[in-house]
Amino acid sequence: MKREKRPILLLTACCLSASVLMLAQESTVELPQDKGPDTIDVSGYPAPLQDTYKLFRTKCSKCHTIARPINTTMARDEWERYVKRMMHKPNSGISSGDGKRIFAFLIHDQEVRKSPNPAAFFPALSQEEIEKLQQLQQQRKSR
Ligand code: HEC
Repeated sequence: MKREKRPILLLTACCLSASVLMLAQESTVELPQDKGPDTIDVSGYPAPLQDTYKLFRTKCSKCHTIARPINTTMARDEWERYVKRMMHKPNSGISSGDGKRIFAFLIHDQEVRKSPNPAAFFPALSQEEIEKLQQLQQQRKSR
């Protein structure tokens, strides 16, 4: 009797986690940025930003790899728009206080690590480019 209950429990657990992921709008596409390094050497960053690095790693890896923001290069105003966009996704788990701190981190990181060496990073893709990649990847999977 006990054994029969297991598959039902498993099924319930799967359905629940799938719907939670959908609510969180997990990114379903792999971007070129995702394949780059997934850590930053922050040992030379101001102490408060070293702290924010931890917050950034937790908050910005919920729906896609942390490598994605680590390897994307953008201008200051684009980062501002992006952090807001990520914050406002349903169930992002990012408060506006978190958003402000993470934005300050991203700007510092942009200035000291990315801007001097733009060729090592990826510019952000447009929504259309992301959708095209998504379609291609889904076609490949269903073949
Ligand atoms: C609630 C889920 C979620 C969270 C949390 C989240 N993102 Fe995203 N992110 C996405 C999705 C989905 C995409 C795919 C593009 C889109 O739909 O906007 C994306 C794409 C990106 C991109 C790629 C941009 C491009 O156009 O190439 C960057 C950079 C990014 N996110 C940075 C961040 C940062 C920084 C944080 C933390 C402040 C964060 N994300 C947190 C869901 C999330």
